Amino acid sequence: MNSIVRKVVLAVSLSGVVFALVPQVHAADDDPIGKAIKARRAGFQLYSFYAGHLFGMAKGEIEYDAELASTMANNLNDVVNLNNGSMWPAGSDNTQRKGKTRAKPNIWSADSKIGEKSKTLKTAVADVAGVAGNGLDGLREKMGAVGKGCKGCHDEYRAKDF
Ligand code: HEC
Repeated sequence: MNSIVRKVVLAVSLSGVVFALVPQVHAADDDPIGKAIKARRAGFQLYSFYAGHLFGMAKGEIEYDAELASTMANNLNDVVNLNNGSMWPAGSDNTQRKGKTRAKPNIWSADSKIGEKSKTLKTAVADVAGVAGNGLDGLREKMGAVGKGCKGCHDEYRAKDF
């Protein structure tokens, strides 16, 4: 086979693979709201993973480790500061997407305080990131506000059940 023929053969066999994948890609793109819900829920799993280590250390359930504490706090600080506004499209609340999300419709109401709740958490997390690697006492002192930041938003804007 000369090289051009070989390229054509390769292109044809690859295009078969691509065609085989197309229907799945389409299925996902058909539901941008469902994708946004999945993405934001996955984002909160990151919050939970990073904050979980820090809460664990603060409570004495996980041995304090300065480097790990610092990494977790910095990661948490990064993820809470992502601009994820596009993960909250209209039509993605728990009345319109029953069983898929716990996001309450008041998130989208005109007098929604969700932005403020988010800022409260960001401030608390930045404080923790500043001290997490400098000893357990500082971490303990600052994690209370993080816990309140999570809870303060969940109480208002997250349903208990699906
Ligand atoms: C500004 C509001 C807000 C703040 C602050 C907030 N959350 Fe949430 N969280 C939500 C909402 C709303 C949902 C429901 C999302 C959904 O179901 O679509 C949620 C869902 C979750 C979930 C469930 C994810 C899933 O798989 O369904 C976890 C875990 C979570 N949050 C952890 C945290 C932690 C930990 C913090 C603090 C470090 C935090 N959240 C701070 C609003 C917030």
